[in-house]
Amino acid sequence: MGVISRKLSKSVSNFLIFSCKYKLAVANLVKFVQVEYKKIDIDDVASLRQIVGDNFLFTDDEKLLEYSHDETEDLSFPPEVVIKPLTTQEISEIMQYCNKRNITVTPCGSRTGLSGGSLPIMGGVALSLERLDSIIEIDERNLQATVQPGVINQLFRDAVEEKGLFYPPDPASKGSCCLGGNLAENAGGPKALKYGVTKDYVLNLEVVLPNGEVIWTGANVLKNSTGYNLTQLMIGSEGTLGVITKIVFKLLPLPTNDITMLVPFSSSEKACEAVSEVFREGITPSALEFIERDAIDWTLRYSDIEMQIPDEVKAHLLVEVDGYDIDLLFKDCEKIANVMERFDCGEILLADSNSQKEQLWKIRRLVGEAVKANSIYKEEDTVVPRAELAKLLKGVKEIGGKYGFKSVCYGHAGDGNLHVNIIKGEMSDKDWNTKLTFGIRAIFELTKKLGGTISGEHGIGFVQKGYIDIVLSKKNIEIQKGIKKLFDPNQILNPGKIF
Ligand code: LAC
Ligand code: ZN
Repeated sequence: MGVISRKLSKSVSNFLIFSCKYKLAVANLVKFVQVEYKKIDIDDVASLRQIVGDNFLFTDDEKLLEYSHDETEDLSFPPEVVIKPLTTQEISEIMQYCNKRNITVTPCGSRTGLSGGSLPIMGGVALSLERLDSIIEIDERNLQATVQPGVINQLFRDAVEEKGLFYPPDPASKGSCCLGGNLAENAGGPKALKYGVTKDYVLNLEVVLPNGEVIWTGANVLKNSTGYNLTQLMIGSEGTLGVITKIVFKLLPLPTNDITMLVPFSSSEKACEAVSEVFREGITPSALEFIERDAIDWTLRYSDIEMQIPDEVKAHLLVEVDGYDIDLLFKDCEKIANVMERFDCGEILLADSNSQKEQLWKIRRLVGEAVKANSIYKEEDTVVPRAELAKLLKGVKEIGGKYGFKSVCYGHAGDGNLHVNIIKGEMSDKDWNTKLTFGIRAIFELTKKLGGTISGEHGIGFVQKGYIDIVLSKKNIEIQKGIKKLFDPNQILNPGKIF
């Protein structure tokens, strides 16, 4: 079993086979991975197969290709094997084996991520957690639930809802994304505005460390001042510090009523300016989303949903209020409408039937997919203090003008979280592969200047790591790298991500 250098060559050649477009960008990013890893040979395959059983280790091209991508642009990095363990014990044995032999392991779930966090960029093992898909317990007395990481977000929401309980984090991919991935990227979604993001609902975690040891990070309690907070450290660590195998969530009582409003504007900037004023009226909506005209047009075309939008409308705000008293909610809607009118909105559509609401939210959730289907693109996940949103949008358009790209913007306006989709359109391949990086840097520098950062909810993963120096100091990055080294001295777990 000889050690074969896997540094750059394998990853870049994988990449060339599947995706020539990003050649330069990826070569630049991969070169930061300095460690040499062992290539998986037939002895390794036999040993790993013994751990998970014959039916749950795959080496066929079709499977490797399937696990080579997530939802990040069109990137593709095939692993050498795909393994689907069932238990914490099996994962522990896999990690022990790979750690001893210097084989890389990249955990994944449904692979719906948007920053390449689950791409096996160095080959090695793709460790799929999809078979760990049980809701172990819903503790109605304590409003808590214990689940495995492969549970789909929506299935969990439905299960707790049946018991009158509420799990708020609702990424657009909630119908297909796994809770483990939600933790890895600290996912948000529209309801993060009122209820917070994934990290706000996690009390305790069972984690398999890179050397195979198993720990619990905290306790199943609402308050905890017992040492460093390893639970929160794991969340948003993008599968680089350990493999999460059990999650203890806190839950809320389920709100009984909600109302959704669609507010049109003839100016995108005015729509953004209205956002922070809503909160100054003393209202916290359960969602406040921004959708540019192109985003809604592309989504309508993509989805066959019928909706007439007057030509002068350039953007919409989609606003939801929720709670227990419908009269109070209507009063909040009136106050919100008054604010919107001060910013020259058009006629507001109030959706109070379930089917209308569902249709509006379906449109919103489909925007990402629709943009993806329309053109080669790059999606940025900028976030600024919400009162700076209009300045961010204006700046993004100006930067686009300077560097020659068009952008389609939408996102969680109430959180100041703008998804900027840079569209390749007429841009030449050469400009797309070279100049664009400078345009993205300019957007991120503006974001930083406005008091924000480069990712609100998608993570840094693989595609944003070349920009992290814009928002984190050298010392900050040094501390984070030290943490990674402490957990994973051999750097076998999801290498080449974040830094
Ligand atoms: C959304 C995803 C892209 O908000 O975060 O649609
Ligand atoms: Zn989003």
